Amino acid sequence: MLGLLIDFNQDWAKAASALVFVFSQKLATADDGSLSKPIRNHSFDTGTAWGYLALQSLKSGYFAHGMTGVHFERVSAELAAPEEYHFEAAVAIGRLGNKDDLSEKLREREIPNNRKPLSEIAFEGSF
Ligand SMILES: Cc1cc2nc3c(=O)[nH]c(=O)nc-3n(C[C@H](O)[C@H](O)[C@H](O)COP(=O)(O)O)c2cc1C
Repeated sequence: MLGLLIDFNQDWAKAASALVFVFSQKLATADDGSLSKPIRNHSFDTGTAWGYLALQSLKSGYFAHGMTGVHFERVSAELAAPEEYHFEAAVAIGRLGNKDDLSEKLREREIPNNRKPLSEIAFEGSF
């Protein structure tokens, strides 16, 4: 499955304990087992679930790192995903590694990340 990631992600994600491919379900299952009714919020729900996965990972002593650097066009076919599933993102889960084990290029990225001020990401009224 590592080959479904772009080269850059393969470089570091190969050391992860688990590589998870997250799918959302686009159609609801009716009582008779049929799939017909669209779930409009499938990506929202799955994104929420991923957020909790990240928090639970941390609580359990792991780190979870979301990625969209994935060969999207290949994932559904290679994982034989049924039509009603939409691939969202990949997640690498593992213990915190040693920075010195990384290539120089990757090591340079291991610096604290700045967060945008709230005023840049939320505002009152319309766009
Ligand atoms: C939509 C999205 C896609 C991302 N894709 C990748 C990716 O393919 N590879 C990667 O190393 N980081 C990717 N990231 C960044 C990491 O998931 C993470 O958010 C970033 O390293 C910040 O980490 P921090 O929260 O510990 O500062 C992506 C982030 C977002 C929001």
